Amino acid sequence: MAQKITKDQLRSRNWFMNSDNLEMTALYLERYLNYGLTREELQSGKPIIGIAQTGSDLSPCNRHHIELSKRVRDGIIAAGGTCIEIPVHPIQETGKRPTASLDRNLAYLSLVESLFGYPLDGVVLNIGCDKTTPALLMAAATVNIPAIALSVGPMLNGWWKGERAGSGTVIWQAREDLAADKIDTDEFMEIAAAAAPSVGYCNTMGTATTMNSLAEALGMQLPGCAAIPAPYRERGQISYETGKRIVEMVWEDLRPSDVMTRAAFENAIVINSAIGGSTNAPIHLNAIARHLGVAVDNDDWQALGHDVPLLVNMQPAGKYLGEDYQQSGGVPAVVGELMEAGLLPNPNAITVNGQSIGQNCVNRRSLNADVITPVSDPVKQQAGFLNLSGNLFESAIMKTSVISPAFRAAYLSNPNDPNAFEGRAVVFDGPEDFHHRIDDPSEEIDENCILIMRGAGPKGYPGAAEVVNMRPPSYLIKNGVEALPCIGDGRQSGTSGSPSILNASPEAADGGGLALVQTGDRLRIDLGKGSANMLVPLDELNERARALEAAGGYGIPANQSPWQEIFREKVDRLDRGMTLKGADAYRDIARKHVPR
Ligand code: FES
Ligand code: MG
Repeated sequence: MAQKITKDQLRSRNWFMNSDNLEMTALYLERYLNYGLTREELQSGKPIIGIAQTGSDLSPCNRHHIELSKRVRDGIIAAGGTCIEIPVHPIQETGKRPTASLDRNLAYLSLVESLFGYPLDGVVLNIGCDKTTPALLMAAATVNIPAIALSVGPMLNGWWKGERAGSGTVIWQAREDLAADKIDTDEFMEIAAAAAPSVGYCNTMGTATTMNSLAEALGMQLPGCAAIPAPYRERGQISYETGKRIVEMVWEDLRPSDVMTRAAFENAIVINSAIGGSTNAPIHLNAIARHLGVAVDNDDWQALGHDVPLLVNMQPAGKYLGEDYQQSGGVPAVVGELMEAGLLPNPNAITVNGQSIGQNCVNRRSLNADVITPVSDPVKQQAGFLNLSGNLFESAIMKTSVISPAFRAAYLSNPNDPNAFEGRAVVFDGPEDFHHRIDDPSEEIDENCILIMRGAGPKGYPGAAEVVNMRPPSYLIKNGVEALPCIGDGRQSGTSGSPSILNASPEAADGGGLALVQTGDRLRIDLGKGSANMLVPLDELNERARALEAAGGYGIPANQSPWQEIFREKVDRLDRGMTLKGADAYRDIARKHVPR
């Protein structure tokens, strides 16, 4: 360990050992003694390490962090630090209405204040459930004190009737069986429960496994940390190692801005394709990058990520679940396979253990080629995202690796134009409108339709809902039509395998072209050209825009809470990470300022 700072340079000394202001020192000190901390722990020059605690009864995915934090604490103390646990605003993906993503920026804001305004020298970020990972990494980026992430780990594999039952994915399948009267509601609930057999987060390659893997890919977790299932002994052991390491990182002055460089983001984009990562990943990584002042946009995702093959055979794109991912080597094995093929752009990017990602993973390979494949024999080619644009939106992404053979045959089968398809738009304003109308035969939805979901973006919903992956009408499902193309200004669950066009920016409620599309319009999507357009004459579109403006713009529901109002006023577009406008101007604040 290369010690770069002395104990007198610890941030916490400003609170607990400020000889210029003994009165304030006494005041700060005494209250942290009242539950049993000693002056020796606070004043002898031990780094004060925060544990950003996202686990609670409200957040079952992260709840196991309450247990793991005991091991983190042991590690911090063993390495000569003192530990202070910080409650983080809870974000439970499946429980929070109107949507958990509304709260990502709220948790970010509150953690920034906690890290900046209290006597902390470093922090362990308890990541896990979808939005907790970006919220914590964004806060660490802004404050920029030494930080290390610790994944809570996925649940054990779920099983239903001898088959792997993956989080979310089984529900998307079972809802179609329910719509087709193949199962009843009790069985529907049992299937859902079977997918959640233990503590931990979603065991599929949904947004949680994606973001935890990318936190490791960015260099912010110890190597191998992301994939260990929550109940495994290794999870407790790496918690201890994480606690020890953050104390060393404080002495080494190794900060988020040293780790999460442009090089690290380029690695993460490539690794996201190789793991078959969620369509939420660009939103969150673009957001983290903004808070670091690193330029990353959806063009980077296509340029760096689209052609990278899918190596991880996990649901929803593939077959396996979290335990299989771990047993096959997890993120280091994926990185090792990519490196062997020369596909990792920046092996020299530094990680929290002080070594480069290349050093950490050079000798790591898949331990089971059926779960993590070599680059020479991937699950699929071109696993990344396309960044589409046109008169419907300036930017929207599509994960082409989940396009099913049936979808390809139905929509992309024109031999003269194998990359383009057209269809008739059927427009829904929000999920309630969708549920009211989808099964109504008078809508005349057939297999040549493209479903549009709008009013589901950051301002419209608010928070950007995971509602773009819409099922076809039940009468079509009964006739064997499993999926229709969907386009929307909201998001899609990372556990959904639908080939949707998502995160359309700007959204309808923010002046986007989606506000102008009408049911019956002809749409053309060209995956080769990267375009998505309404085939409507410009005069007609201008007329619609004038009429919309005269009507007061695209209507959105009233705010239901103070935060919804603030969020809608401040939020930026999905392609820019849905960050709070202006928040990215505050950067590296713990080094720039001593809080007053
Ligand atoms: Fe929390 Fe999936 S719902 S990780
Ligand atoms: Mg989700």
